[in-house]
Amino acid sequence: MNTNQLSPAPAGPPPHPASPAPQPVAQPGAAPLSPVLCARGLMKTYGSSSTTTRALDGVDLDIARADSLAVMGPSGCGKTTLLHILAGILTPTAGTVRHDGTDLATLGDRRRTRLRRNDFGFVFQDGQLLPELTALENVILPRMLGGTSRRAATAEAASWLDRLGLAGMHDRRPTQLSGGQAQRVAIARALTGRPSVVFADEPTGALDQATGQSVLQILVDSCRDSGAALVMVTHDAKVAAACRRTVAMRDGRIAQEFVRPAEQPAPAQPLAAQSAEVAR
Ligand SMILES: Nc1ncnc2c1ncn2[C@@H]1O[C@H](COP(=O)(O)OP(=O)(O)O)[C@@H](O)[C@H]1O
Ligand SMILES: [Mg+2]
Repeated sequence: MNTNQLSPAPAGPPPHPASPAPQPVAQPGAAPLSPVLCARGLMKTYGSSSTTTRALDGVDLDIARADSLAVMGPSGCGKTTLLHILAGILTPTAGTVRHDGTDLATLGDRRRTRLRRNDFGFVFQDGQLLPELTALENVILPRMLGGTSRRAATAEAASWLDRLGLAGMHDRRPTQLSGGQAQRVAIARALTGRPSVVFADEPTGALDQATGQSVLQILVDSCRDSGAALVMVTHDAKVAAACRRTVAMRDGRIAQEFVRPAEQPAPAQPLAAQSAEVAR
């Protein structure tokens, strides 16, 4: 890959970063907005007829825009399989996933790839930033692959990085960032392009607890404020507590669901200020 092609365009007066426009905001605990993902009767079996593992055994789930859902459960209960099926990465053995009413099974590979690229954002445990690219380049790469101009992608990426407390770090490479900073770059990457759903698999699993908690709050708040649904897999109850809803899985099924009661809204605080508070 020619990384030079990804360098930010030399600026004349920088375009005023197209600050992510306000989206419908759901207050914590408030009634969720319209469902963006609907899963019905999801089954997933791995392996051949001699050795089969039933990873999912009849999962129904609705997820609304701007809502946050934690998927909890012991190792091997099917969390990652569920996340990958909801994101169209894996195909279920039976059952359906609808995104804004469209059954993912009716989409060909190209349309499904486009859906993942344009409508979904992903945050993984170790960030998965490309080491040879700067923070900014990591954020703009998926947008440029999706056909956005470098100028537009750069403005949008810079705006998100600044919002997440990373002003002045756009040109750092992942090795020059702390774990928490790298995860915030991964969050910026997931949120550029205005995804309707952000999927996160153990997004704070590689961070110490205080850093993890601060990154987590930024992830939850950013998704809610930009109107994206957040689906987060975690085995940590403290991490799950940041989400409005939690489903507990066991043996490929949803065993329990919790909905956090409405809270008094916290006093408004800009995200950049939150990030600066814990500059880890
Ligand atoms: N590619 C695969 N091939 C065979 N079995 C798999 C595969 N992926 C996951 N499994 C099995 O499916 C079950 C659920 O796995 P997974 O969804 O990764 O659970 P979790 O994320 O909750 O740990 C486990 O028994 C696991 O061993
Ligand atoms: Mg897993």
